[in-house]
Amino acid sequence: MIAVDGPAACGKGTIARALAKYFDLPHMDTGLLYRAVALNLWRWGGDPASEFEALRAADDLGFDPDDEELRTEPVSKIASSVSAYPSVRAALLKRQQDFAGQPGGAVLDGRDIGTVIAPNAEVKLFVTAEAEVRAERRMKELQNRGINVHFDDVLADIHARDERDSTRPVAPLRQAPDALLLDTSKLTVEQAIAEAVRLVEERLADA
Ligand code: CDP
Repeated sequence: MIAVDGPAACGKGTIARALAKYFDLPHMDTGLLYRAVALNLWRWGGDPASEFEALRAADDLGFDPDDEELRTEPVSKIASSVSAYPSVRAALLKRQQDFAGQPGGAVLDGRDIGTVIAPNAEVKLFVTAEAEVRAERRMKELQNRGINVHFDDVLADIHARDERDSTRPVAPLRQAPDALLLDTSKLTVEQAIAEAVRLVEERLADA
């Protein structure tokens, strides 16, 4: 089982998908679960400041991973808030652990895969990049979807999300002691993927 964690827009999703393809494993983007809770809440007009309402939005969670709305900025912000609630995290735990524990293995990406969901993962990667680089990438991603944003706003949002994700008391974003660090700041997508594959193969060979 391969755990891939890291902050917003660090490239962990791209790397996790590429690893899944390379090693022929199923992949789960766990951020989508939190985004789905956020989208539910938003559609109902629920209050993200209420843990009770956020938990209701996590009940019987079904969603379409291709729903474009999951990746919009308002939903990203709400996802970051609701993911700080212990009850919401608990509600999503089993689904992730079942996926991680399936025979044959899996790749999961998120914030707490190597620390909480699968502390015994064979390989853990912690993907990161400088905030400015991540803001640049997120801006391009949004522009490709026809959304125009200012660099300063995107950077401020990245900083705010880093702060919230790493200071929350439950399952904060942090590198597991046995995770391999992959800084993608100066790497192209192809280079980052090649480096991730190399790190995973090296770790598997050691095991
Ligand atoms: O890639 P990006 O950070 O934009 O988003 P994401 O990975 O889809 O995660 C959305 C939000 O869900 C993040 O702000 C995290 O706070 C939260 N999340 C989490 O708490 N735990 C996870 N395993 C995955 C995401």
